[in-house]
Amino acid sequence: MTTLRTETGPSYAAILGVGAYRPSRLVPNSEVIDAIDSSDEWIQQRSGIKTRRFATDDETIVSMSVAAAQQALDAAGVDARQVDCVVVATVSHLLQTPSAATMIAHELGTEQAAAFDISAACAGFCHGVALANDMVRGGTAGYALVIGVERLSDITDPTDRGTAFIFADGAGAVLVGPSETPGIGPVVWGSDGEHYDHIRTADWRDVLASDNPTMPCLTMKGNEVFRWASFTMAKTAQQALDRAGISVDELDVFVPHQANNRITDAMARSLRLPESVRIARDIIDAGNTSAASVPMALRRMIDDGDAKSGDTALLIAFGAGLAYAAQVVVVP
Ligand SMILES: CC(C)(COP(=O)(O)OP(=O)(O)OC[C@H]1O[C@@H](n2cnc3c(N)ncnc32)[C@H](O)[C@@H]1OP(=O)(O)O)[C@@H](O)C(=O)NCCC(=O)NCCS
Repeated sequence: MTTLRTETGPSYAAILGVGAYRPSRLVPNSEVIDAIDSSDEWIQQRSGIKTRRFATDDETIVSMSVAAAQQALDAAGVDARQVDCVVVATVSHLLQTPSAATMIAHELGTEQAAAFDISAACAGFCHGVALANDMVRGGTAGYALVIGVERLSDITDPTDRGTAFIFADGAGAVLVGPSETPGIGPVVWGSDGEHYDHIRTADWRDVLASDNPTMPCLTMKGNEVFRWASFTMAKTAQQALDRAGISVDELDVFVPHQANNRITDAMARSLRLPESVRIARDIIDAGNTSAASVPMALRRMIDDGDAKSGDTALLIAFGAGLAYAAQVVVVP
């Protein structure tokens, strides 16, 4: 019997560079409240959000991704031609096919890198980091770009009280590559499809069959999602710490999905994070950018000096599906 040759990569992988793109148009709460009979005070108190950014027509899924990815490449000092795989996490690339990733890989100037999108909603970026870690260590990619990108303003109903003030636009990216030391801990991930309907868009066929077809927008059972995220996700985060062999006292940075500041607070309390752990609060002026939120928040913490090279950072993301993923990484 013939035995196939197999390949493996380096023992360890790490995040080598982080990038983000923030759309130019700042949208304060005052701009969204009239359509949902709300107030700046209510929104800040319930979610922490003061402003968010919406993309202009020129700020596309592809252009925002390219900008974020280029910053990650520059930070790592790696040329796009060295990238073997581009993984894009998004739910707001509005072409059923082809993926956004192939165009992004082309615009970046990769040499025909493998490229594909993943659909894991807000959890997509952390899924992508897990895949990239395994790809590099498995020898299937020397360098892998992981991009989280959304234009949720395209699929959010501005009159829906439960979502209009939450969702926003942006892009974040990391470059994953070989490392002398472990830079990405084991992923803890999973799904709870029993609650498939908690956050979703309508089926296109139902929309088109209606009298007044409009864009299928996001709907969310806010209370249910809030409870699930606040109580269940802290356990997942703790498992990611345990699997990486890191205690909360050894943790430097906590970068949860920027879903809602109250969810972040609840997780931090459950995890008993000491005061010394810096916590991402990008949601205050970025809103909830789904797959883009974790890398955007991490980039901001690096820029602000809250996350330094060599720090340990706990990442966790969760959302529609319900899908979730968490891992501890070392800040590049
Ligand atoms: C959306 C969310 C902020 C709503 O907050 P909530 O406290 O659950 O709000 P409820 O739906 O229970 O409504 C509470 C009250 O606020 C009112 N309300 C609801 N939406 C409102 C809005 N946009 N503005 C003002 N008042 C609003 C309700 O009418 C209700 O009033 P009542 O007490 O007089 O009946 C909250 O559920 C949430 O953050 N969920 C998780 C969302 C999330 O993070 N999703 C992303 C996961 S990826």
